[in-house]
Amino acid sequence: MPDTTRQIICRCEDVTEEEVLQAIAQGAATADEVKRLTRAGMGHCQGRTCRRLVNQLLARRLGQKPADQRPVTQRSPLQPVSLKTLADSH
Ligand code: FES
Repeated sequence: MPDTTRQIICRCEDVTEEEVLQAIAQGAATADEVKRLTRAGMGHCQGRTCRRLVNQLLARRLGQKPADQRPVTQRSPLQPVSLKTLADSH
């Protein structure tokens, strides 16, 4: 069986599956708690790529259903954006 624990879960922050599983073993029960312990979800994409994988690991380890999982806290854009740019984007 291939060792999957070295697979990258969050490529923005280089967080591996093993690190996420360690966070869960330390008591993390939500994606936000995993995020605080590992930085998975704090990268440039703000978890758009890794959130689903973290939720799958949580569900597998804790027996949760996807509907039981709370959404992750997201941050505002990293760079200032003018109101005109925002208004023009719609
Ligand atoms: S892949 Fe995790 S924050 Fe981007």
